[in-house]
Amino acid sequence: MNFTYADYAESSEYVKNIIKDDVDIAVVLGSGLGSLTNEFEEKIELPYGEIPNFPQSTVESHAGKMIYGKLSGKKVLAMSGRFHYYEGYSFAQTTLPIRVMKLLGVKKLILTNAAGGINPDFSVGDFMVLTDHIKFFTQSPVRGKNVDEFGKRFFDMSETYSKDLIDIASDCAKELQVPLKKGVYAYMPGPQFETPAEIKALSILGADAVGMSTVAEAIVANQCGIKILGISCISNMGAGIADKVITDEEVVEVTNSVSYKFKALIAGIVEKI
Ligand code: HPA
Repeated sequence: MNFTYADYAESSEYVKNIIKDDVDIAVVLGSGLGSLTNEFEEKIELPYGEIPNFPQSTVESHAGKMIYGKLSGKKVLAMSGRFHYYEGYSFAQTTLPIRVMKLLGVKKLILTNAAGGINPDFSVGDFMVLTDHIKFFTQSPVRGKNVDEFGKRFFDMSETYSKDLIDIASDCAKELQVPLKKGVYAYMPGPQFETPAEIKALSILGADAVGMSTVAEAIVANQCGIKILGISCISNMGAGIADKVITDEEVVEVTNSVSYKFKALIAGIVEKI
């Protein structure tokens, strides 16, 4: 299903009436990374079920609410839990919050996720800043009638992930002595993890990491002119790379175990952007 401009406006008005302030930066928190909001001050929580038009998050490791508050002195709107295509939602549904953010005045967005490592130089627990992405074969989130208020139907994707924000993230990581890799994120629809042959194919195509989120959100944010920073936590190595079965439990365990570094990194970045 697709939404009309009025639907997006209805959702954003609801949020605006509750937070009653503007937003400096928005953050989408990936699997196991939700604890960032423990650092927020003056928190306001908005369960997705109460926001008009919002689907429910059905993934256990995703809390399912918007959390607004102060982090590093900035007004931050976090999505604790996101909507995934593998849950059965359309890409239009998975990206509804991004257009709502646009209507709330968001100009900068940090998209985070857990991802499988493909680049052999990566290790489990590493962070990777996204320089670009690959999304083949699945539909575009902006397929269908264009909602002109959010941008042109045909739009450029040559700097989807802001070089300025990548530089800021790299500087912060250096200061905090958190190693930060750079690379290309490949979207796969899931929910099954990939086969070793798929991981090998993605590697040949130029991917450094693989995951089931982020890319549709990045496309929609890019269309409407929001600057994007993407950060992956490498929660496991892609299928066939390590001689190991991949489980969702492992993904959450690893992201939880490095969440203290993640929180410091995001707080540092938020302060600087
Ligand atoms: N593949 C796809 N998505 C993921 C993975 C993976 O190996 N790890 C965490 N999210």
